[in-house]
Amino acid sequence: MNKIVVKICTGTTCHVMGGGHLFDLEDHIPKEIQDHIQIEASRCLGYCTQKGSGRAPFVMIDDVVMTDATIDRIVAELKRRINNV
Ligand code: FES
Repeated sequence: MNKIVVKICTGTTCHVMGGGHLFDLEDHIPKEIQDHIQIEASRCLGYCTQKGSGRAPFVMIDDVVMTDATIDRIVAELKRRINNV
């Protein structure tokens, strides 16, 4: 199974909107799914300047953007994806 890649935006807008806390994500991922997840830092993903993109912080989970990302929402999405595989 390919790893699910989580790209956390490190751009200014996302950082100011709380994105910095998202780097604690690894500590919140259940042990049983940790091997399936790869966490990366990303430069500005470009969504902060697009009208109608939603609220920062932005995170990419594989090729899908999550707006207003929180650790809880990311973990829930990762569990959902892994359980559906
Ligand atoms: S700063 Fe995060 S999308 Fe631009």
